[in-house]
Amino acid sequence: MRQLIAANWKMNKAGKEAIQFIDEFKKLIKNIKYAEIVICPSFTALNEIKKSIINSKIKLGAQNMHFENSGAFTGEASPLMLKDVGCEYVILGHSERREFFTEDDELINKKVIAALNNGLCPILCVGENLEQRKNNKTKEVVEQQLRICLKNIDKKQMTKINIAYEPVWAISRGDPNHKAATPEDAEEGHKLIRNFLEKMFDSATAKNTRVIYGGSMKPENAKELLSMPNIDGGLVGNASLDAKSFAEIVKSAKLN
Ligand code: PGA
Repeated sequence: MRQLIAANWKMNKAGKEAIQFIDEFKKLIKNIKYAEIVICPSFTALNEIKKSIINSKIKLGAQNMHFENSGAFTGEASPLMLKDVGCEYVILGHSERREFFTEDDELINKKVIAALNNGLCPILCVGENLEQRKNNKTKEVVEQQLRICLKNIDKKQMTKINIAYEPVWAISRGDPNHKAATPEDAEEGHKLIRNFLEKMFDSATAKNTRVIYGGSMKPENAKELLSMPNIDGGLVGNASLDAKSFAEIVKSAKLN
């Protein structure tokens, strides 16, 4: 499978800046073969970016969505709206949504189902925080997140889902010097996820589901992380804000 390299711009880059990025980035990735590339900008930049990526290798994703198709939900965007603007992907259950906007696994499960029902591919984020890791709770926490977030999902639907293992302690929160997980630690998390998918579904599903890594991935460590057997791509925050550094990461992708 092709590795998935997705940019999570978080609350950064307004329209003009976003378009400048795309113009520069498109030139840098002309000969890319192995990566599937997704950019997830803010809601307000989606429309402009969609226009600027026509005839390119870049796909569009959103960073969040509501689970209802329409209704009285002030401030929210629905799956239908994301489809309408040209999104193919949507990040769901990011740790910043869980922490700052109190999203829990049950809510995230509704969003995963709504995304699938509307033809959007979820990038479902799971991962333990530092305290949970220190208390040896990683396995328990990640398995619980998967169990609930993927409730009532069948094997066929799993072919549309990407899992992002994002250990919360490795996420940069904008600090370029923040330390990523070591490739070995990341691989261990990915293996744990794959083993659990095998238990929850079957071995083919576990093998064919893309499990991507997020948390301070940057040009300096991307190659090593992406060469681990169970790492099928990256969800990149801070280092995706610069066209050159994101292109470097994309170039580190390979066929898994
Ligand atoms: P980071 O963010 O690359 O800046 O650590 C990743 C993420 O939060 O998805």
